[in-house]
Amino acid sequence: MSLDLTIADLKEKARRRVPKMFFDYADSGALTESTYAANEADFGKIKLRQRVLVDMTGRSLASTMIGEKVSMPVALAPTGSTGMQHADGEILAAQAAQEFGVPFTLSTMSICSLEAVAEATTKPFWFQLYVMRDRDFVYNLIDRAKAAKCSALVLTLDLQILAQRHKDLRNGLSAPPKFTPSSIWQLASRPGWCMKMAGTKHRTFGNIVGHAKGVGDLSSLASWTNEQFDPKLSWNDVEWIKERWGGKLILKGILDKDDAVMATKTGADAIIVSNHGGRQLDGAPSSISVLEEIADAVGDKIEVHMDGGIRSGQDVLRALCLGAKGVYIGRPFLYGLGANGKAGVTKALEIIRKELDTTLALCGRRDIGEVGKDMLHR
Ligand code: FNR
Repeated sequence: MSLDLTIADLKEKARRRVPKMFFDYADSGALTESTYAANEADFGKIKLRQRVLVDMTGRSLASTMIGEKVSMPVALAPTGSTGMQHADGEILAAQAAQEFGVPFTLSTMSICSLEAVAEATTKPFWFQLYVMRDRDFVYNLIDRAKAAKCSALVLTLDLQILAQRHKDLRNGLSAPPKFTPSSIWQLASRPGWCMKMAGTKHRTFGNIVGHAKGVGDLSSLASWTNEQFDPKLSWNDVEWIKERWGGKLILKGILDKDDAVMATKTGADAIIVSNHGGRQLDGAPSSISVLEEIADAVGDKIEVHMDGGIRSGQDVLRALCLGAKGVYIGRPFLYGLGANGKAGVTKALEIIRKELDTTLALCGRRDIGEVGKDMLHR
């Protein structure tokens, strides 16, 4: 039995347990994947200052994100088709996050529906919204998120059109799945995954199928989705969404300081500095490389969060030092889920917490709320 000591260990275990087309769906970026690679690589360029002979007892990682208490400032990012990494994936990840005391964000493109996740949890989760052209569908989805008692709406801004991931096309990833010799082999070689999937009732996109006009099953879903992302989305749309939702609002997918300044004028509670995990604009800078200038540009006008490339507690600390109040992990929790279901998601969070705690101490600090740029070698 191999030990799961790092997020990379969980990734390798997930690779062995999840059918290739679904593992690759998580482990891929747009086009040449240069932004996907930079997200991770750029963290390594940021060096931490080691301090000695300071009292490191009584450390605390507890903080807040948009005013909600968190046991550490690390949320689970919204990821589509999470239920394909492991049966009931969204429910298991939400339960793991709840027990750990960190926020879980459910994607519009989740397999388990809003209602199913709400039924399986007691703590409010956050809901990520994609704004589709069919506004009646969007109004309804916002109302469903309210009824499910979600405590924040995460509005994704960087997917007005869909970029291309070559791996998905090469693997023939589609909804419904096409059965070719290759896809049959991918499934047959992962019997544990198949058995769990056969045992769940959550196998379709529960927020959409049966709710969007004309989408009664998986076959109608693919064409609906492709034509529904809205290339005309504008800052004015943020206004009516905010009004209809009426609760905490987080704007996700800001990578430019001018957009960040625009975001401060919307009255939203937070922005997420993000390039969608390198899945949209290939060639864009890594999130961590633009975080500082964005945080400086908005000052204390809006809370700044970030995601993209975090693979360790050291990375979390680097982002917090550069101005993030909290961060999100996408693939790290997906790898945990694929490796070992709910226990794997908990493991991913434990790995990050342990690394964060040790790193904080060795940098000579005791409280996660007291970190800053002075902790970095510039
Ligand atoms: C995503 N991401 C994403 N974002 C979003 O707003 N809605 C979504 O449905 C999805 N779907 C999705 C699927 C998968 C498989 C991945 C990997 C990512 C982006 C996600 O929220 C987040 O921005 C990145 O995952 C952060 O980068 P890391 O932590 O994966 O490196």
